[in-house]
Amino acid sequence: MTLTNHRILLRSRPTGIPYPDDFVSDTEATRRPAKDEVLLETLYLSIDPAMRSWMSENPGYQRAVPLGDVMRGGGIGRVLESRSSDYQPGELVQARLGWQTHPTLPARYLQKLDMAKGDALAWIGPLGLSGVTAYFGMRDIGELTPGDRVLVSGAAGGVGQIAAQIARFEACHVTGIAGGTEKCAYLANELRLDAVIDYKAESDLPAAIGRACPDGIDVYFDNVGGPTLDAALLHLRPQARVVLCGRISQVAADPPYGIRNLGQVLTRRARMQGFQVFSYHDRYEEARTWLAARHQQGQLHQRLHILDGLHHAPEALGMLFRGENNGKLVVRVG
Ligand SMILES: NC(=O)c1ccc[n+]([C@@H]2O[C@H](COP(=O)([O-])OP(=O)(O)OC[C@H]3O[C@@H](n4cnc5c(N)ncnc54)[C@H](OP(=O)(O)O)[C@@H]3O)[C@@H](O)[C@H]2O)c1
Repeated sequence: MTLTNHRILLRSRPTGIPYPDDFVSDTEATRRPAKDEVLLETLYLSIDPAMRSWMSENPGYQRAVPLGDVMRGGGIGRVLESRSSDYQPGELVQARLGWQTHPTLPARYLQKLDMAKGDALAWIGPLGLSGVTAYFGMRDIGELTPGDRVLVSGAAGGVGQIAAQIARFEACHVTGIAGGTEKCAYLANELRLDAVIDYKAESDLPAAIGRACPDGIDVYFDNVGGPTLDAALLHLRPQARVVLCGRISQVAADPPYGIRNLGQVLTRRARMQGFQVFSYHDRYEEARTWLAARHQQGQLHQRLHILDGLHHAPEALGMLFRGENNGKLVVRVG
């Protein structure tokens, strides 16, 4: 039986927020695997802000997706046919599958899912790269210490939800910043954060942070950059740690926001450090063991926002930059 591979290709390089017009779809017959290759059925694709930079001519840390190529993206797939002794039909794997329904990939690019840690949804969710990013960002870069006063921006998103909960596990006072009443209610009522700030409803964000964090901030986990980062800097405690995880607010900012309050880093003898999760590749197993244990005990949650069908992937990517995702954004394909 010949299956059809539905694909979404990059058509143009966006300026600002990506739109569906930047992509085009096509179909091809699936390619039967050659020696040491595997034919897969894509089940879930993770939709991540980093994809926007891969669409640019000069992404910086990774090769750009060439125009006309299948859009790059990671996810979970099921083995349909294997010519590798390492994989059997029916097994679940994670890989850079790309935005396509039936990729044929070299077996060396796949990683088998450890089903003892969680099912496919757990692997695209809290055990996926957003959970791993939160783990290393909060613990290694943030040097989280029990009792710290912690502020997390983008707190209702994929990384932010996990980062905030990691701080809760360490008995920290945790404040989450998110856009809109529904997201803030989720943070307060479901994740039980100590304080929440709806930045879209605040005319004076520095003052709102001051009210939510009256004793200041030991760790600021920043997912958004721009004016939110600037406002947080005003409330640093001595020897605070600022974790630069992402700066999604600056993707469509023209001109980019200029940070004014860097002097606070000096006077508070604070540390500000960026990181990329890929640098921790050798320690992913450590993070996943830690996250899986808490997820299985019902202590760690991650709300997923799932769209059904590969054709939703192009519009999904833009949703991240408009705050339209209610949780970790995922496209269910198979
Ligand atoms: N360093 C790393 O290795 C690494 C790895 C993965 C992700 N990241 C970064 O982590 C961040 C979160 O990624 P994610 O996958 O978990 O996405 P996400 O938080 O699930 O989704 C993005 C969220 O960003 C917020 N946002 C968008 N535009 C904004 C603006 N102008 N101002 C303030 N907030 C805005 C929106 O939330 P609101 O509705 O609350 O505004 C939106 O829901 C991103 O910056 C990403 O680049 C870094």
